[in-house]
Amino acid sequence: MMDFTANYDMLHGIEGYMDYRVYSTAVETSAHCAGEMVRILNDRISTGSNAFAAVSGGKTPDLLFDSIVKHFREAVDWSKVHFFWVDERCVPPDSPDSNYGTAMVNLFKKIRIPSQNIHRIIGEADPGKEAKRYADEIAGLLPLENGLPVFDLVLLGMGDDGHTASVFTGNLKLLYSPEICAVSTHPDTGQTRITLTGNILNNAREIRFLVTGAKKAQVINEIFNKQGDWMNYPASFIVAETGNLFWYLDEEAAGMLK
Ligand code: 6PG
Repeated sequence: MMDFTANYDMLHGIEGYMDYRVYSTAVETSAHCAGEMVRILNDRISTGSNAFAAVSGGKTPDLLFDSIVKHFREAVDWSKVHFFWVDERCVPPDSPDSNYGTAMVNLFKKIRIPSQNIHRIIGEADPGKEAKRYADEIAGLLPLENGLPVFDLVLLGMGDDGHTASVFTGNLKLLYSPEICAVSTHPDTGQTRITLTGNILNNAREIRFLVTGAKKAQVINEIFNKQGDWMNYPASFIVAETGNLFWYLDEEAAGMLK
């Protein structure tokens, strides 16, 4: 498990395994990311195990969920897949801000997945208590690898400010918390969030970033070229410890990469 103080320099000194793929539009990028997600889930299921995935919120996954429903609805035995969230806003499910509520409408109500396979963060609960409950649920269901519960797939987005999950710039200690998840606060809105921490994210077998839009191009360029403020962006701390990390970018988000 990584420790913030001891490993900060080491982490930023290593060439963590990372690759990226660029497609012309957000729709095309999302479709390719959806296909990759389905491949990863089916690879796991083909071993006879259930697949455990954690998805992010925000707007980016909307196109990804659309693509799964349109092109891959019957391509996976969803009864063998357990979905979790990378993070959640501390709001009720019927709030337009709810990552769970949005995913239910855009994906889960449109595929054949048992409700017990959908493990939401209870946004309306007491945040501190819910962070503990959710962590216990993960620890109780997922296999262990490197001493931590291991997700087969973690799907991440990235904010214009370089945050990922609900780990925000200026709160990098959440990347190295010994807890599986933690309570966080959005620096601009003050909204309370619950988020997986960096160690659990980095422990995943397959990590996929899906980042689209010109607003993200500057931060993408800084992270990929280790320039400017890159060491303050939580997204630059996501490195596949033992698995694989791929960024799915559209041409706009990749617009400043040489
Ligand atoms: C959230 C997400 C967050 C998101 C980024 C990108 O709950 O908001 O998990 O990390 O992935 O903020 O958001 P957009 O996809 O809306 O740009």
